Amino acid sequence: MFKSYHKLLLSTTATLALISTMSMAEGASHKYDNGKKVIDGGVTYPVKKGMTSVYHINETTLKGGYTFGRKPTPNEIKAWDIDVMPDGTGLPEGKGSVSEGDELYEEKCTVCHGDFGSGGGGFPALAKGNAYEGQKTLKNQRTEPDKDGPIRVFGTYWPQASTLWWYIKTGMPHPAPMSLTNDEVYALSAYILSINEMKIDGQELDEDYVLDRKKFLKIVMPNKDGFVPKIDGPKGLDNTREFFNNYENYGNGTRCMKDCFKGKPKLARIKVEMKDFHPPMSTARDLPKDDGKSKKTHPGLKTYEASCSVCHATDAMGAPNLGNKEAWAERLKKGIDKVYANGISGINAMPPKGGAVDLTDAQFKAAVDYMIENSK
Ligand code: HEC
Ligand code: HEC
Repeated sequence: MFKSYHKLLLSTTATLALISTMSMAEGASHKYDNGKKVIDGGVTYPVKKGMTSVYHINETTLKGGYTFGRKPTPNEIKAWDIDVMPDGTGLPEGKGSVSEGDELYEEKCTVCHGDFGSGGGGFPALAKGNAYEGQKTLKNQRTEPDKDGPIRVFGTYWPQASTLWWYIKTGMPHPAPMSLTNDEVYALSAYILSINEMKIDGQELDEDYVLDRKKFLKIVMPNKDGFVPKIDGPKGLDNTREFFNNYENYGNGTRCMKDCFKGKPKLARIKVEMKDFHPPMSTARDLPKDDGKSKKTHPGLKTYEASCSVCHATDAMGAPNLGNKEAWAERLKKGIDKVYANGISGINAMPPKGGAVDLTDAQFKAAVDYMIENSK
């Protein structure tokens, strides 16, 4: 417990929120050292009345209020400084097989990322078939701008495999980051490589394939040059940056704000926009389909968006959701007046007026009407 706690300490704001809940719940079991709570190198500081904070409060500057912040301890920096670089820096030893990864995936990842990494419901896909074939469209796009955009999943799009390891280790599974062991991350990486139909050192990853650090560092991603194009400066790739920093090497060779291409341009930057991502870049929320009939000016629209959509946009909370014909038809069997009344007084998981107690009955009813009219 202590160990995972301190590793979480400096990751994301989400986990910080989690920590504050945890430290309250588990306050009693922390070790004490010189009157301060010590959590495996992390420190909490006394604040008031026996309460503590992970932030040091500098009381000497207490004039207009608290000054927050403290230096992280070396252990905290160590816990935070855990990214994995393409050259292997930060990648620990460990191993795991494709079949172990398959099992873990089903247990911990399928719920969001779908069977075989198919994605959906707003969650990113982790594979779209053969990474080598999918990648063709990305290559073509640079030279033939009308071609389809890249298939944007790990195998086809990410330039470095190290990002996968690091992403899973520190960020996944989404609700419990940093909960996987290094071996589990190797196993999951092996599985994800296999569903992308990738090879390491020419070898396919069948279910018995065991991935370890040494093999991991041999992965060559199909899109490794997708982000940094191979543009040969006069002395090859290595001096590309130097080459582009020198304005004499492109445009018409002089600094200019207009007519830069008068005369013979030496070199123009290639302007190619990425478009048509597959799957699309945006993970749009699963709102009901807008068939064009929705009443954008409906008097209940504003109220719905401000006070009801949080629960009624989807059926995740058990609420009859906007656009769900059956759910609303079922509710309406008892008559509209009863439906209004139930909403106003609250029903099961729905608090009175959905918690928006300042709404007049008329405003509330308009929001109900809005939902009903858009669920036919
Ligand atoms: C509760 C839902 C949830 C679970 C469970 C979950 N993930 Fe994710 N995962 C997400 C979301 C949401 C994102 C996108 C995060 C973002 O883009 O900010 C994501 C992103 C990813 C990505 C990056 C995908 C890309 O191309 O950008 C990888 C890789 C990944 N998850 C792996 C895993 C693995 C492996 C597991 C199981 C150990 C797992 N996830 C479990 C929700 C989840
Ligand atoms: C906190 C979540 C939440 C919010 C916010 C919320 N609702 Fe609900 N609502 C529910 C749930 C859950 C149900 C289903 C309750 C049940 O019958 O089990 C429901 C049911 C209803 C019903 C059906 C009542 C019936 O007779 O079956 C109406 C009407 C309704 N909500 C209107 C609204 C309106 C209008 C708003 C905004 C002003 C709103 N709700 C805000 C959660 C919410």
